[in-house]
Amino acid sequence: MTGVIDSSRLPELLRAMPKAELHMHIEGSLEPELIFEMARRNAVSLNYPTVEALRDAYVFDDLQNFLDIYHVGTKVLKTEQDFYEMTGAYLARARTDNVLHAEIFIDTQTHINHGQSAETVINGLYRACSEAPTRYGMTASLILCFLRNLSEREAFECLEQALPLRDKIVGIGLASGEIGNPPEKFTRVFARARELGFRLVAHAGEEAPPAYIWGALDALKVERIDHGVQATQDSALMQRLVRDRVPLTVCPLSNIKLKVFPSLARHNLRQMLDAGIVATINSDDPAYFGGYINENFSQTFAALAMDSRHAYQLARNSFEVSFLDAGTKRRYVDQLDAVFEQFAAPN
Ligand code: ADE
Ligand code: ZN
Repeated sequence: MTGVIDSSRLPELLRAMPKAELHMHIEGSLEPELIFEMARRNAVSLNYPTVEALRDAYVFDDLQNFLDIYHVGTKVLKTEQDFYEMTGAYLARARTDNVLHAEIFIDTQTHINHGQSAETVINGLYRACSEAPTRYGMTASLILCFLRNLSEREAFECLEQALPLRDKIVGIGLASGEIGNPPEKFTRVFARARELGFRLVAHAGEEAPPAYIWGALDALKVERIDHGVQATQDSALMQRLVRDRVPLTVCPLSNIKLKVFPSLARHNLRQMLDAGIVATINSDDPAYFGGYINENFSQTFAALAMDSRHAYQLARNSFEVSFLDAGTKRRYVDQLDAVFEQFAAPN
């Protein structure tokens, strides 16, 4: 990478630089307008009279409080076309932020519990992802997340239902209410997923203590930790994350909306990067948390006075720790380098 790029050009650089998004829940990209549109066409009644009233309800005390409202939005999704349109809307929006690759989380169990089949859900998402290169000039793949508030048996059932669609899913993750649902609850089903060749990730250390991150690494044997921001409370864990280059997919605006940190100025992303953690920036649930990925970049950089070297590191990490093949990673990193060289060149 070239030297530091003038800070006056940083906002433009953050928007223009190619990046991958590795932590976003597709249901969390449903904008209130699309929720209302799908509710109308699927004859689902919502307890909110208007789009504005629904958006006004997006004020949360913690993760569980958010998950309750998020769950309301998922009830409007009925057909494969709904899942396809939701995913297409996210991909189109992400591409405007120069996202060149997205790894998308899907809560299949939520939709199965609402009466949809795994095929309806996965096929709708997969169709949008497979069209991403030609429609949007990007790549996208799917990670099926087990809901950790449900049982191990239900996670095994979910895995079983997904097996006929094996080739459409790159990885398995773990999401939903964290506290009281430690990673160890899912040791056996993650071992099975590993045997089946799935890549593994898990939410850990979003609200819950560092023990949950240790558990995700040692019991579930995940390759990336989603959030992981509680790691800074445990110096032995920090050493382990740095030594093993365990990536953290950090979601700063989510952490503020869910009151994990009191303000962005108090967020520990810069501290973690400067300590050598392989972190990335992501949007989590962009329709609920006040911004897509570029908004996460721009607000976090302003609050933490980060510079173009941090930007390069974060964007490069995002491609390198993705589940893409080596050739595609290299092609994206070359595109990233080209943008940085262009910004470094004298006008
Ligand atoms: N599902 C959607 N968003 C989530 C989050 N931030 N943490 C855990 N599960 C989620
Ligand atoms: Zn998440």
